[in-house]
Amino acid sequence: MRKIYYASALAAGLLLMYSCGNTPAGQPGASDTAAAPAKATGDAIYKKTCIACHQANGEGIAGTFPPLAKSDFISDREKTISQVIKGYSGELTVNGKKYNSAMPAQQLNDEEIASVLSYVYSNFGNGGTAVTADEVKAVRSKI
Ligand code: HEC
Repeated sequence: MRKIYYASALAAGLLLMYSCGNTPAGQPGASDTAAAPAKATGDAIYKKTCIACHQANGEGIAGTFPPLAKSDFISDREKTISQVIKGYSGELTVNGKKYNSAMPAQQLNDEEIASVLSYVYSNFGNGGTAVTADEVKAVRSKI
């Protein structure tokens, strides 16, 4: 009797762990849980990777680091994706102001770039839509 009690308690425990922790992709509910972490990841990548130059509020630093906040540059999605994949040095214009500095290529994979740019497009007063990993992949194959 005791043994059976322990066994079923163990089984219930395992079931609980399984259902809380690892919902396998493709199972019902997986898409609900996938949406939130993707956003959090973009946020985390921004804070780890971009913040030093473009600042927490995305305003950059006048004359040196251009703003991502309400940047007219990012309306060109392809150029924006390329900027993060390859970096860029030379003259560029954001909101009528010229910058002539250098941004190093970012060592991020397609999913990470999609997440961080989705974060940029949906924050800092930018009203853009999300960037997908496929979009990043397509740009990467061209440049
Ligand atoms: C080491 C500093 C540095 C880091 C880190 C950095 N950037 Fe930049 N970024 C720059 C500079 C400098 C420019 C302008 C380059 C020029 O003048 O040629 C720029 C330009 C840009 C532009 C185009 C201009 C604009 O403001 O719209 C985008 C988009 C951009 N960066 C996004 C990012 C994102 C996203 C990240 C993080 C994944 C990032 N950058 C990380 C320095 C940086």
